[in-house]
Amino acid sequence: MVIDNKMILEQFKLRPANALDAAQFVEIMNSQYARKKNQEYFYWQYINPPEPTVLMCAFQGDQMCGMFGLKKRKLNNGVVIGQAIDMLIAPAWRKKGLFPELARQAVQYFGKEFDVLSVLANAAGNHAVVRSLGWRNAGIIKTFFLKNPQSVTCRPDGTDAGDCAGKVRFQKDQDYRNWRFDKNPCYSYKAVSVENATAWVKVFIDPLTNLRYGDIVDFDIPCLEAMNFRNLFYAACEYLKLQKVEAITVWALPGGLLRNIAESFGFQETSQERYFCLKIISPKCAYLDKFINWDLSEADSEIY
Ligand SMILES: CC(C)(COP(=O)(O)OP(=O)(O)OC[C@H]1O[C@@H](n2cnc3c(N)ncnc32)[C@H](O)[C@@H]1OP(=O)(O)O)[C@@H](O)C(=O)NCCC(=O)NCCS
Repeated sequence: MVIDNKMILEQFKLRPANALDAAQFVEIMNSQYARKKNQEYFYWQYINPPEPTVLMCAFQGDQMCGMFGLKKRKLNNGVVIGQAIDMLIAPAWRKKGLFPELARQAVQYFGKEFDVLSVLANAAGNHAVVRSLGWRNAGIIKTFFLKNPQSVTCRPDGTDAGDCAGKVRFQKDQDYRNWRFDKNPCYSYKAVSVENATAWVKVFIDPLTNLRYGDIVDFDIPCLEAMNFRNLFYAACEYLKLQKVEAITVWALPGGLLRNIAESFGFQETSQERYFCLKIISPKCAYLDKFINWDLSEADSEIY
């Protein structure tokens, strides 16, 4: 049955989430995903975040039926970007047009503030934003894996090619990183530093396979010098080896310095994918459509 927009507005009440919605948020998320969320995640992500954030929710009576999270962030060049997170419709209400209405109201909540909208989606999210919201898939991020980390016994050398300095990334200052890593209610992160460069890593135990992964989720390298990066990457791998992880993961985008470094350590691209989708609003941001212009790390996605 085709449900039109008027019917959506008659059947559902749409409003931003508040602290009282924590329990229903957890219930609907945990019925969908193997990686379980708790109420602390909801408070951290939506009630006490460092950046303006809304979780637009749809209700039937008191029952939460769907949600669309949106954060107002900045890129390192000042561009204002909306980042969608936690997009979810309860199974009974999928494929009926509730999703685009939630997205529309989440964006409208901020007025005309965005230069660009983005999401780091799974396959279902990619399909929904492209088909129902008219966003474009700008690139597919395939996770790089090192399957046997204990085999790396000394820092591999390599020709460090690739440009990072000119690339666009999400802006992350000290406050943001304190919130993202130190206050994270789901995972414990470790900052590994070499001179003035830092990498953030965490150990993740897959709830389905029980495998122990080490994720290198973020970097802060002030000068972006290749040798600094290589030394830091090695230190991050060494730390994770001590944690007895069975594999190490990292995002190493095409054309970036990290891609060469990770490959020289034996990391390989896998079929585990995340889809980077964009809606360019301001014409001055047309260049963002080119994936090669981006430097993204696992920490940019809410799932890592
Ligand atoms: C991703 C998700 C939120 C999308 O929600 P959705 O309800 O399926 O999305 P839409 O409302 O846009 O519906 C999409 C489909 O319904 C169709 N549709 C859209 N509006 C419609 C309407 N008014 N009437 C009938 N069909 C409609 C679309 O044409 C589309 O069809 P297609 O799949 O054949 O292309 C939902 O699938 C979900 O919660 N998935 C699980 C959680 C998840 O993976 N989230 C993504 C995280 S990144």
